Amino acid sequence: MQLQDILYSQGFGTRRVCAGLVQQGWVEVRDPVQQSSFEICKDATADFDLHGLVLRVQGVEWQCHLKAYVLLNKPAGTECSQKPSTYPSIYTLLPPPLRQRPTKSAVQGVQAVGRLDQDTTGMLLLSDDGQFIHRLSSPKKHVPKVYQVTTKHPIDASQIERLLAGVVLDDDPKSVRAAACERRDTHRLDLTLTEGKYHQVKRMIAAVGNRVEGLHRSRIGGLDLPADLPTGGWRWLGPEELDLLSRVDG
Ligand code: URA
Repeated sequence: MQLQDILYSQGFGTRRVCAGLVQQGWVEVRDPVQQSSFEICKDATADFDLHGLVLRVQGVEWQCHLKAYVLLNKPAGTECSQKPSTYPSIYTLLPPPLRQRPTKSAVQGVQAVGRLDQDTTGMLLLSDDGQFIHRLSSPKKHVPKVYQVTTKHPIDASQIERLLAGVVLDDDPKSVRAAACERRDTHRLDLTLTEGKYHQVKRMIAAVGNRVEGLHRSRIGGLDLPADLPTGGWRWLGPEELDLLSRVDG
């Protein structure tokens, strides 16, 4: 694949901009054999294998990926919308190329796999692979998501029982239930859901007479939020992690 096309596919701008970046000497390519050395390449049509290619564009290192699968540790006070109404968008936490990657759909760049409320923290996935997004967010796929819930009032056994048996939310006659519910201490529980209705955790907890004071998503499928990913930080997902994500047995 030509270097200008690789840059375009990674979100570095229009084809013209990408060709210009190369011709002006802003793009270095890492030698796949001598892993540590980068060399400037001024030939926009030079051929490279995108797989595993590492570039340095205007001094910033970039690992090339055919499709983007990333994990973000969402901080509180951020919205999952591209056009937020009150709080900063989570998309501002990602490097510009991830937000500008060309896609087949009308929307550019990576998209969040489902949404978390502005005050919810933790694990959020983003991708430019529509099938991946669908597989992980469709209620029909039953991918479990674990939420660490802090409640206003003490949690009692009857609340846990009701969450597991199923509660009716205001807009839906069909009850929703937790796939698992474990009390961690008087005001904390881990709730596992396999669907993702609007404000589902908060509404379920309200339906059993309590109230959510803090909400953190810690696990999707078989993958835990890595302890070393700081709040507000992001990273690429590897093949093993992608495998773990789609596990429906958690
Ligand atoms: N349930 C909620 O109520 N809020 C979230 O952000 C996620 C699940």
